[in-house]
Amino acid sequence: MDVDWLRAETPGTEHRIHLNNAGAALMSRRTLAAMTEQLQLEAEIGGYEALDRVADRVEATYAGMARLLGARREEIALFDNSTHAWNAAFYAVPFRPGDRILTTRAEYGSSVLAYLQVARRTGAELVVVPNDEHGSVDVAALAELVDERTKLIGLTWVPTFGGLVNPAAEVGRIARSAGALYLVDATQAVGQFPVDVTEVGADLLTGTARKFLRGPRGTGFLYVRTEVLDRLDPAVVEIAAATWDGGRGFRWAEGARRFETWERSGVNLAGFGAAVDQALELGLDAIGTRALGLGARLRDQLAALPKVATHDQGTDRCAIVTATVDGMPAEEARAALAASGINTTVTVPEDDPLDTEDRGLPALLRLSPHYYNTEAELDRAVEVIAGL
Ligand SMILES: Cc1ncc(COP(=O)(O)O)c(C=O)c1O
Repeated sequence: MDVDWLRAETPGTEHRIHLNNAGAALMSRRTLAAMTEQLQLEAEIGGYEALDRVADRVEATYAGMARLLGARREEIALFDNSTHAWNAAFYAVPFRPGDRILTTRAEYGSSVLAYLQVARRTGAELVVVPNDEHGSVDVAALAELVDERTKLIGLTWVPTFGGLVNPAAEVGRIARSAGALYLVDATQAVGQFPVDVTEVGADLLTGTARKFLRGPRGTGFLYVRTEVLDRLDPAVVEIAAATWDGGRGFRWAEGARRFETWERSGVNLAGFGAAVDQALELGLDAIGTRALGLGARLRDQLAALPKVATHDQGTDRCAIVTATVDGMPAEEARAALAASGINTTVTVPEDDPLDTEDRGLPALLRLSPHYYNTEAELDRAVEVIAGL
């Protein structure tokens, strides 16, 4: 990987040390150019006309996303964020009283709220599977808990609050053998390391382009395995998702597009497509090797500092590193790093309620390098933290 060239193609690297790729990664010149061109076209010929003009490129975005995930093009729906994609999948499951939703302690805050609401509304029961001694979902406990009442298993592959990589494929095998729907939140996984929906055994998988895929904000996607479509009833319907039959009925759109909305941002779609193409060209194996290597290096460096503790769980970890600095709230540490030109963020307990219930951790400083960061940038961040 030619890191110097990749940095030259990433304008943001000139001014900041960007260690907030789990928030939103820096876009490349190519992505920026695709979006700027689309915006210009919208201004010149009109927003609807501009989207029509690039219809082929929009289709190529579906095809690229499908290639990235090892899926079929008709199994991809595009959204404006990951939560909306996840909601589209989750709220389409027809839960009944007595059904069970099995999930893990790593779930994202919005998903936990949705589980609670749907359980209250439908009489389904929410069961939170315990972690093993390393902090990953306990696969043996999950296998014990699964039975014919299990309608859905929801798993966050990589949580927002740490470097944990949950054993998504092992969970997928359990879900498949139980006949339960398997919904994977891959928001922090896609773009960071290889993701193959067949290997994972996902029926439904969600994410965004703005994080490790390096696309723009305002983007999301949902993968729906063709074979589970008839077990789902989308919670809402609109003119992109279905066609009026002329009488008192309608027909769903083919494949995953029945979950989409009609209105969409051509500018964001242009950036989404460019970012996917770039990830495919670089290759997710190479991206994953470098990103995870930088994550491990940074974690080791921080853990070696006397006043710092790291909090990433699991035996399998990624490029998200969380830390606390003795005697200093995470927000103060973040602000001090920002004042030195280093972007990081803070994860708060509300982002991950079930993990908070378990570990009771305070807000954490989160650092998330990506393949275009350098070792020298990590050293500089560690130096600033050491001096706090
Ligand atoms: C694991 C995980 N799931 C879901 C989300 C929500 O994504 P979005 O903000 O695109 O809705 C996030 C955002 O940080 C996340 O980290």
